[in-house]
Amino acid sequence: SKLLVLMVFLVSELANYERNVNRAIHKYNAYRKAASVIAKYPQKIKSGAEAKKLDGVGAKIAEKIDEFLTTGKLRKLEKVFECVRNACFRVDLTFEKADENLKKIEHKLNHHQQIGLKYFEEFEKRIPRAEMQEMEVGVSELDVVDPEYIGTICGSYRRGAESSGDIDILLTHPDFTSQSEKQPKLLHAVVDHLESIGFITDTLSKGDTKFMGVCQLQKEDEEECFHRRIDIRLIPKDQYYCGVLYFTGSDIFNKNMRTHALEKGFTLNEYTIRPLGVTGVAGEPLLVDSEKDIFDYIQWKYREPKERSE
Ligand code: TTP
Ligand code: MG
Repeated sequence: SKLLVLMVFLVSELANYERNVNRAIHKYNAYRKAASVIAKYPQKIKSGAEAKKLDGVGAKIAEKIDEFLTTGKLRKLEKVFECVRNACFRVDLTFEKADENLKKIEHKLNHHQQIGLKYFEEFEKRIPRAEMQEMEVGVSELDVVDPEYIGTICGSYRRGAESSGDIDILLTHPDFTSQSEKQPKLLHAVVDHLESIGFITDTLSKGDTKFMGVCQLQKEDEEECFHRRIDIRLIPKDQYYCGVLYFTGSDIFNKNMRTHALEKGFTLNEYTIRPLGVTGVAGEPLLVDSEKDIFDYIQWKYREPKERSE
């Protein structure tokens, strides 16, 4: 039902809030897990107590569900959603009125949130590897825009996962380096092309170096195809492989690799690898022309993306 979609959406927004504002990854994970079990629950959830029976829903989250079901709002989200401050949730939120209430708040959400709500159920679905492979073929066809583009689908797909949560594309071009001018056109030309072929369907945000949006594979037969979250990052060529390494993950692997780098006297992030001087001050970025270069600098045996779960 729409009310369930809204409830799951709000719990997910709580998750995002914990991650993005409070940097509380444990709370983020807890809310994500709760949102996913609630989304899969086949019946209407009529109370926090009922929700609490689900694996992954604790007392705190049950409390939030009660608050939402009885008052129609979440105080915690008032900080994030202006619409809540506007009292749009201060409506008699009953199951019968769920559709109506959803309409009431829809126009008060910002563009990003509207798209999140519009495709909420589709975004919850993982992307099968076969579909990711089709998208990879699409990425390899970017040379119709300019043959010099280099693009890589990173994230869990590159690690060989059977399904992925989203599509993380890293893009570079020899004309664009950290020393050159900004080249937003390099990103926008790709986005325009993917829009013109009907692959990109919505834009969440579009900057000089980062596009966040929604895409959908065009199918010839009647086969169902969902909207997917896609991020495309344009990265200076000299920083490309640090970026590819970082966005391939996993995040646990990244953490371990950074720790090892520090032990060897290097600081590593999504942009560069730099030697640390005796005083602990980072020097100039080292030249990197492949992922392997980074492993070599820190004297670590190269690991294929498939072997980077931790
Ligand atoms: P995600 O897309 O969040 O993760 P994923 O692609 O591994 O998994 P999923 O299938 O669910 O999409 O992020 C992509 C990579 O970015 C991730 O593998 C590692 C890196 N990353 C971090 O190192 N730390 C972080 O906090 C995040 C969000 C990402
Ligand atoms: Mg991903």
